[in-house]
Amino acid sequence: MPPTRLEVSAAAGAYPVVIGAGALAMLPQFLDQSSLGPRRVLVSSPLVWKLHEDKFAGVATEQEPILVPDGERFKNLATVSRVYDALIDRGADRSTVVIAVGGGVIGDMVGFAAASYLRGLRLVQIPTTLMAQVDSALGGKVGVNHARGKNLIGAFHAPRLVVADPVVLETLPRREFRAGLYEVVKYGIIASAGLFDRVATTLPALFDRDPAAVAAVVAESCRIKADVVSADERESGLRRVLNFGHTVGHALEAVTKYRRFRHGEAVAYGMLAALALGVARDVTPREFRDRATALIATLGPLPPVADLSAPDILAAIGRDKKIVAGTLHFVAATGIGAVTELTDVTEGQLREALKSIGIR
Ligand SMILES: NC(=O)c1ccc[n+]([C@@H]2O[C@H](COP(=O)([O-])OP(=O)(O)OC[C@H]3O[C@@H](n4cnc5c(N)ncnc54)[C@H](O)[C@@H]3O)[C@@H](O)[C@H]2O)c1
Ligand SMILES: [Zn+2]
Repeated sequence: MPPTRLEVSAAAGAYPVVIGAGALAMLPQFLDQSSLGPRRVLVSSPLVWKLHEDKFAGVATEQEPILVPDGERFKNLATVSRVYDALIDRGADRSTVVIAVGGGVIGDMVGFAAASYLRGLRLVQIPTTLMAQVDSALGGKVGVNHARGKNLIGAFHAPRLVVADPVVLETLPRREFRAGLYEVVKYGIIASAGLFDRVATTLPALFDRDPAAVAAVVAESCRIKADVVSADERESGLRRVLNFGHTVGHALEAVTKYRRFRHGEAVAYGMLAALALGVARDVTPREFRDRATALIATLGPLPPVADLSAPDILAAIGRDKKIVAGTLHFVAATGIGAVTELTDVTEGQLREALKSIGIR
């Protein structure tokens, strides 16, 4: 299968997103076609590099990459500073192209380093987790955490090229893979009945990391994200549909200090809560809630939530970045592939939704 090629429009210029099994073998050509050269530096994590170094022969001017740790706890300015140090050591200048190879943590952190070093170096994203391939590598949001909150420091810095090759996902731990699949289900719910059905019908092949099966859902997810961010790069409105499941999801992550859930797992609970709230508000058909709930359950067990407190979660929702001028914008599904925004959700309705996922 030839790779799928999408285009994302951004204020800084449109950029291609190439998705395909084996697409990384053509990375040097893609870089040349996008006039991204000749000075290139790769930035990755020790683990990702050890697993996939062989796929990057001949890509960079210096084959030695900059390696920085990639756990969520390293997603901070200290690690970004290490990237700056290494860029200075290598004499990086305005012509240098930075190529981030890794999951969302590497992509966000290296993207922020690229956005700020010399007021901006050109950036290429090579996402190596399912989460990064379907979400974080596209859209230009980059940044790091602050001790007092997640993603508090950041910028918009659109990449010049994104290459998502499902072959690299073969080494991804099953839990990380599932975490990404929940975001794929989210795209199905908000925008594509075809994608929703495809996940349901090809699940065994997806879990086997069959490259063609994975490439198909990655490409469709990227198409949806590309459409949304092309229309609304700065999240003034439309981009908020991508937050389906994220109001409760982000709150669950915050109250557990980002230690219990993978992001996608928290979003899975958030989607279940949003489906329940949608039914209670009469915008989500029950039959659709049942189908979506069943698909989420089929993906596997989620970490426990029964010990969490509803008041803590409500407080975290109140501190959320998605509150705009004092109003919570809650995304609810109106059917498969369609959503609406509710701006008058009450605390009582949120409490009921939390109860439906086992939180009192
Ligand atoms: N910028 C955005 O729009 C956006 C969107 C969604 C998420 N994010 C951010 O993304 C981050 C989460 O990203 P993530 O879920 O990719 O987690 P991650 O980057 O922490 O990667 C998860 C783990 O997988 C390992 N890994 C990566 N690629 C691998 C591979 N091919 N084989 C084996 N192991 C591999 C990593 O070393 C890491 O231990 C969060 O910080 C979140 O804020 C950003
Ligand atoms: Zn998400």
